Amino acid sequence: MSKIPTKVIQDTTVPVIGLGTYELEGDECREAVSEAIHLGYRHIDTARMYENEEDVGLGILDTGIVRDDLFLTSKVWWEDLDEKTVINEIEASLEALRTDYLDLVLIHWPNPDIPLYEPLGALEMLQESELIRYFGVSNFSADLLTEAIQIASIFSIQVEYHPLLDQTEILQMAQRHDLLMTSYSPLARGDVAKYDAIREVAKRHGKTPYQVALRWLIDQPKVAVIPKSSDPTHLRENIEIFDFELDGDDLAKIANLPGDVKKVNPDFATV
Ligand SMILES: NC(=O)c1ccc[n+]([C@@H]2O[C@H](COP(=O)([O-])OP(=O)(O)OC[C@H]3O[C@@H](n4cnc5c(N)ncnc54)[C@H](OP(=O)(O)O)[C@@H]3O)[C@@H](O)[C@H]2O)c1
Repeated sequence: MSKIPTKVIQDTTVPVIGLGTYELEGDECREAVSEAIHLGYRHIDTARMYENEEDVGLGILDTGIVRDDLFLTSKVWWEDLDEKTVINEIEASLEALRTDYLDLVLIHWPNPDIPLYEPLGALEMLQESELIRYFGVSNFSADLLTEAIQIASIFSIQVEYHPLLDQTEILQMAQRHDLLMTSYSPLARGDVAKYDAIREVAKRHGKTPYQVALRWLIDQPKVAVIPKSSDPTHLRENIEIFDFELDGDDLAKIANLPGDVKKVNPDFATV
């Protein structure tokens, strides 16, 4: 069992690689979670919307791991952001996951019809009751993130981020404000392997393009990654990324991916 490094965010340690669980359900989800924990994963990402918290909870239970050794994240759906519903949803999340607390709860997507202070106020109450340790946002634009930071003590922003998508503005904000920036879809759902530049870097190091993408991400301050897999070989591969280093030539190759490949930051504020 390998030990996954951590990053310190606001005096809290967070494992730099977590398991993403979107579209995992039933036994496949339960087994992926349990296999990941056996391999050394200590960070799991789920959401109310994934409708798999029960399976994630069972997968955790199967391993017998001490709860405090895990960093567990869930998210509240954008239609559920009024104060009472946020509280009800998190209580339901805790029950489904069979846990007394969540390490992190994110607002999954912004909702332009509900003022931000409402869900953030509810999350503060949940934090005061020690049902959640930290809270944050996901799929927020830089402007919305600024607004959130002005209202409450945000711990994290989760956005799509990988070598094919520029997120400089959000990344710089995360680094300036000591926020965990969790990269979702860090493998671009498999697309990182389509590009010669990433394949060449991988070949040079005897690694796969997926491993190169993950290493490129976690080498950036404040960034953690949550690749999804239910394949035991992939689960292992995605954490075996600490026995090589990307050098200047590698970084230049990745930075110079063709312009038509590098998408711009989508407008996250539009739901
Ligand atoms: N906040 C949000 O709005 C949001 C949105 C999207 C995702 N997320 C989170 O981020 C997680 C990851 O994102 P994602 O699932 O969209 O995409 P991803 O992690 O970039 O890619 C997952 C895909 O890559 C494959 N894969 C994983 N490791 C591999 C490897 N080593 N070699 C080859 N293929 C590999 C997986 O298949 P196998 O299962 O066969 O390995 C799966 O098809 C989600 O599960 C979810 O927890 C959050």
